[in-house]
Amino acid sequence: MKEKLILALKDNDEQYIQALIHEGLRFYPPVWSVSREIVSDVEIDDSLVKKGDIVFVFIYAMHRNADYWVNPDEFNPDRFLGMILAKV
Ligand code: HEM
Repeated sequence: MKEKLILALKDNDEQYIQALIHEGLRFYPPVWSVSREIVSDVEIDDSLVKKGDIVFVFIYAMHRNADYWVNPDEFNPDRFLGMILAKV
């Protein structure tokens, strides 16, 4: 892994460096949770969430959820290679 990173930096391999940044943010999200105040009653997965309730979106858990990621606890920038990522 370390050798791969050094090579990518030396070769200015933009694709790999970008994948590395994405994997770094997935693995250790700097903001691991955000909150929202519910503005109207809503049912989520058979649970009633009421107006005025505060909900937390647990970003860290989403990033480690095996429903969405293959081997989520493995640091592997390759998972982001070849993906078409949004451009601004
Ligand atoms: C690692 C880098 C970044 C982190 C960890 C980060 C984190 C966050 C967080 C936690 C929020 C508030 C989320 C919420 O509760 O709604 C936020 C909002 C925002 N961020 Fe970032 N941010 C990053 C980079 C950037 C960059 C590079 C830009 C712009 C070029 C940016 C623009 C914004 C804007 C415009 C909002 C407000 C969105 C809205 O409420 O409509 N962020 N960011």
